[in-house]
Amino acid sequence: MITPNLYYAELKDSYLFYHIAQKTKAYLAAHPGAYLYRLGIGDVTRPLCPAVIQALHEAVDDQADSQRFHGYMPECGAPFLRTAIAEHYRARGTDIQDDEVFVSSGASDELGDILDLFDRSSTAMVIEPAYPAYVDANVIAGRKIIHLESGRESGFLPEPPEDDHADLLYICSPNNPTGAAFNKKQLQKWVDYANTNQSVILFDAAYEAFIEDPEIPHSIYELNGAKNCAIEICSLSKTAGFTGTRLGYTVIPQKLIRQGMSFHDMWVRNRTTKTNGVSYIIQKGGAAVFTPEGQRQIRENIQYYKENARILMDTLDRTGTWYCGGKNAPYIWLKCPDGMDSWTFFDNLLNAIQVVGTPGEGFGACGEGYFRFSTFGSREDTQEAARRLERFLE
Ligand code: MLT
Repeated sequence: MITPNLYYAELKDSYLFYHIAQKTKAYLAAHPGAYLYRLGIGDVTRPLCPAVIQALHEAVDDQADSQRFHGYMPECGAPFLRTAIAEHYRARGTDIQDDEVFVSSGASDELGDILDLFDRSSTAMVIEPAYPAYVDANVIAGRKIIHLESGRESGFLPEPPEDDHADLLYICSPNNPTGAAFNKKQLQKWVDYANTNQSVILFDAAYEAFIEDPEIPHSIYELNGAKNCAIEICSLSKTAGFTGTRLGYTVIPQKLIRQGMSFHDMWVRNRTTKTNGVSYIIQKGGAAVFTPEGQRQIRENIQYYKENARILMDTLDRTGTWYCGGKNAPYIWLKCPDGMDSWTFFDNLLNAIQVVGTPGEGFGACGEGYFRFSTFGSREDTQEAARRLERFLE
């Protein structure tokens, strides 16, 4: 008789965003015709930019032409896209080689798949509050997890612990859910810690395009020694609106070696075994993001979301609510009013003003008492949600 992966029994009953979707569905079923202002899951609302749309159309036409048709794509990514991404790094002064870039179907997929590179006995340290998939993917793999809690006293940017060792370190900066971002000096401490302990950092850079502050690194490879200890996972979901289109990339430097094994070469072996590559059409659309026109157009969408952030932050300022984030990240992390717990606040907002956010507890125990708003909604919904929130908080 087959034995299922018994670690599934250790997971929470349902994944955070699925649980929230069920709650909002139940609300709508009980209140037919109601409209919800959705500032919960970080899903984009702006359409793909014109340069991407044009490239997608052209790629579809290529697939209709026997001379330009593409079958299987290279497993690690189309050369034209690997080069475009590596050049994007090099233009920012970070020397990444084309073959160190792996094209993926998105950061969330990759964050789970990449665990194939590490022994199950390795320990994973997750800085919390954290994107819940980091923990869940390691629970499923049966790995020991060290929950490194953070709070307001450190601005949700903790230093490496002096007395705890972990093999895998998850760092997301700018952070989901808190919006806090490590500056170079702070992140250097984590890189040094990883090199000293011979650990590997999984650096989630999904929100780098939202950085405004020049002291905050866009890539971990801006730090000394990072190529010896870090894998960077990035996505076009939030940068360029690809949440539904699915495209991301992972950088594994050639220098990243443990016990004589090259994680880069292992990942080539993994990808050539487990995937047939990302669709040609989608990769062509992704390459358009890295053209001058594409970069200009995606910046317009990012500015749109930043204006949403400003509307929400102004509301929180006026109501005297403590919050962080919103400046270098598309998330705002606030303290629930009157000591309320985060799921009660969620229910109150849903029932009283039809605004949906994400309870902080869903990102780890130390997120209890906090709440996250996404700034990826439409302008109209964000404005109305802010108006309702201001009345509610007053
Ligand atoms: C979030 O809301 O935390 C993100 O949208 C989740 C994701 O990127 O998968």
